[in-house]
Formats: sequence, C-alpha cells, structure tokens
Amino acid sequence: MAGEVPQGAPSSPPSAGGGGQVLWEGRLAERPDAEAFAFQSSLSIDRRMALEDIRGSRAHAAMLGSQGVIPQADAAALSAELTRLEAELQSGALAVDGGAEDIHSFIEGVLTDRLGDTGRMVHAGRSRNDQTALDFRLYLKSSGGELRAELAETIRALLALAEAHAGSVMPGYTHLQRAQPVTLGHHLTAWCAGLERDLRRFRDALDRLDESPLGAGALAGSTLPLDREAVAGALGFARPSLNSMDSVADRDFALELAAASAILMTHLSRFCEDLVIWASEEFQFVSLADAWSTGSSIMPQKKNPDFAELIRGKSSRTIGGLVTLLTLLKGLPYAYNKDLQEDKEALFDSLDTSRRCLRMFRGMMAAAVFNTRRMEAACTGGFLEATDAAEYLVRKGLPFRRAHEITALLVRDCLQAGQRSIGARTIEELKARSALFEADLYPALSPAACVAARSLPGGPAPAEVRRQIQTLRSRL
Ligand code: ARG
Repeated sequence: MAGEVPQGAPSSPPSAGGGGQVLWEGRLAERPDAEAFAFQSSLSIDRRMALEDIRGSRAHAAMLGSQGVIPQADAAALSAELTRLEAELQSGALAVDGGAEDIHSFIEGVLTDRLGDTGRMVHAGRSRNDQTALDFRLYLKSSGGELRAELAETIRALLALAEAHAGSVMPGYTHLQRAQPVTLGHHLTAWCAGLERDLRRFRDALDRLDESPLGAGALAGSTLPLDREAVAGALGFARPSLNSMDSVADRDFALELAAASAILMTHLSRFCEDLVIWASEEFQFVSLADAWSTGSSIMPQKKNPDFAELIRGKSSRTIGGLVTLLTLLKGLPYAYNKDLQEDKEALFDSLDTSRRCLRMFRGMMAAAVFNTRRMEAACTGGFLEATDAAEYLVRKGLPFRRAHEITALLVRDCLQAGQRSIGARTIEELKARSALFEADLYPALSPAACVAARSLPGGPAPAEVRRQIQTLRSRL
C-alpha cells in the first residue's frame, strides 16, 4: 500500500550482523534497500539456530585446523571465541539482532568483528547452503528429541488412566451410534496405540535425518582437504551425507517431521473431538475441570471445552505446515534455491504447536473426571448386547446370517413391547424365535459379561487391555 513503508534509495542497506557487512559484498555494486533487505532476511526465524550454528562452526574450524587448511593457532582462537559467543548468547550479554541476513552471517560477522582475519578464515570449504542444512538438522535432532519425550510422557499418563479404567464399561460407537460395549480403558488404549506409532514415526524420521551435510559446500563439495567424517563424528551425527547436491537440495527430513507432526495432531484432534462429545450435556461421560474450561461472555451458565476445541483447531496449522513444505519443494530445480529458506518457519511452527498441544492435552486429561456410572448406564437400552446374542446362537451351531436375522427380529419384538434389552424377554418368548436359546443366555448379556467375553488379542476384556497396556509401556 502506498505510503505505508518508506521506500529508501537502494544505497544504504541495514548493517549486517556484527561486522556491518554482508557476506557477498564484493560482487554487487548496489544492495537491496531496507525493505527489500528485510524481505530476504531469515534472521527472525533462523536466530533460533544460533547455538547450533556455533556448534557447527566450532567443529568445522577445528577440522580446518587439524587438516592444515588454516593455522592451528587460528583454529584455536576461533574455537575459543565461538565458545565465548555461545556463553554470551546464553547469558543474554550478546543479542542476535541488527540487520544481518541470517544467523550464519550474524555469527561470522561477530567473529570477524572480534578476530579480524582469523574470523574471515572460518568459512573456508563451507557455504551457507550446507551450513543452514546442518543447523536445521542439529536443531531438529534436539527439538525432535524433546517432542518425543513430551509424547512419551503423554502416552504414559494416558496408559495409567487406561489401566485405572480397564474395568469401566462404556459404549463403543460406530457411526456415532452405540455399537458394542467396550471399556474406557480400551478406548484410551486405542488412543495410545496411535500415539505410540507417532513416537516411532518421529524416531524413524530422526534416524534418517542423522547425517551431517557439512562439506557439501554450495553443491559440489570443496577442493580443500576437508574431513567430513571427523566433523560428522564431532557433531554427533551417525555419518556424513552421501551426496553433496542432495545434501543442500533436499528437505525430505523436514517433510517427514512435518508429516509426523500433522499425523500426531490429527490424532490429538480426534481425541479432543471425543472429549467435546463426551463433555456435552447429552453425553455427560466426562466433566472437564473448571480450570480446563472457559465460560461465555453472554451466557452465564456456559462451561465450554475450549481447550479441547483449540487443540482440534490447531491441528490445522500442522496440516498446513506439511502442505507448505510439499508445495515449497515440488517445483525446485536441483540443487539449492533461496525458496528453501521458507522451510524453517513452517516446521518450527508444526513442532512448537505439537509440543504445546501435547502439554495442554495432558493437563486437561489429568484433571478430567470420568462419569463411569453414566457410561455404564449408556450400555443399556441400545441393544449393544445384540451381537453377543447372535454369537450365542452361532456357538450352538446356527449359521451366522440366520443368527443375525433371529436376533434382529428379537430387537424388533423388544421395541414393539417397549422393552430396552433382549434380556427383558422371557425364555418362552426367546425360544419362540429360536429353540436354541437357554437360560444361560441372560447372564451373558450384561455389559460387563459382553466385555469379558471379548478376550481375543486386541479386545476390550480387562485382562486383555492390561496386556495391551503392558505392550505399549514396553515400547516406550
Ligand atoms: N538463509 C539461507 C537459508 O536459510 C541460507 C543462505 C543460502 N545461500 C544463499 N546464497 N542465499 O536457506
């Protein structure tokens, strides 16, 4: 919009980090004006990777020294200054600010400010293309690990709740219609099964990400005798990356983490949808704590499950993040393109969102009170025992399709008679539909009996759910 942003003459760019210069000054006679410079700067996003950038530079400088690319004394001075810088950033004595183009320019600028020509040695055999790929991977290794820890803690908390409710009968639903009795423990363990796969998805992605791109240079490596193995080892990577062009061009590791986040958040979103339904006046299966609810500005009586709704809503950000990254990559020619600078904002947001939502979800669940009486009562009246009655007949030799039909007719008999369960029929009435029915049918139709009889691996029987819980725990 005209007049909104002052349009300066393209002469005096903002000073770059530390040294007040950009890293590519020699070639270009003019610099972008302030607005354009700010547009192409990534400092506000990649400043998060300052400590990773320092770690990378320290490993690189040490390697340059031991390979004889730079004098050992300069390598030692660089290492010492980088360690000082690290401490200053951590204590707040030094702030990442100013008009640097990115965190790499900022750190190199400070080194050059303080060490002169020694600072100018650090970038030998390196490009910001491999440097940013390195910083990103280092950052993701630690923040991905933190997210996994948060996820594991969430699973543990849910499993404890599931264990406590292994015997709490509730209706299981299909099409949001009452289907067959399960337990709250079975339902919560179903959530955990998905979350435990998320945990493994993150681990798999982090395993594949575990390669050092340093030494890839801009795209074609370097003529200098770099030791890529040593740098990879010093930085804690499993190995150096295989191909220099791939190392600077691809971001599939970011895609995988974005996908893992989007899937995790889709899980949380569905769990929250369950909670929103359960917290409704119609269901009343759960009472969310007052501290995990909000009210209405106009309706004095309202208690809303806002936290659950907001987690459900925030899942959209992570799905958007995945789509952003896929779209970013799909048309890029090999190798590096500046477009790739957009990779971090989307993934940082996905990981931040996932982590915050996990914490909120855990807090909300810890304070939730489940109305197990109401859940159990909801198992009666909807003929959730009908499948059990049909399978009773199958056990007595009747083909299942016949058993299904007979039981369906029994349900209709009940509805016509105003009865709420098959067990309300007399044995004579039952026998009128099938002579195979005996008195032992009645005890088999209670919700607890229906659940107990489903003891196959994966089923809702309390002992079986406890086994599932143990299996999931052993995988954490
Ligand atoms: N800030 C860039 C990024 O995050 C790194 C610099 C890339 N190199 C370049 N010539 N523009 O991807």
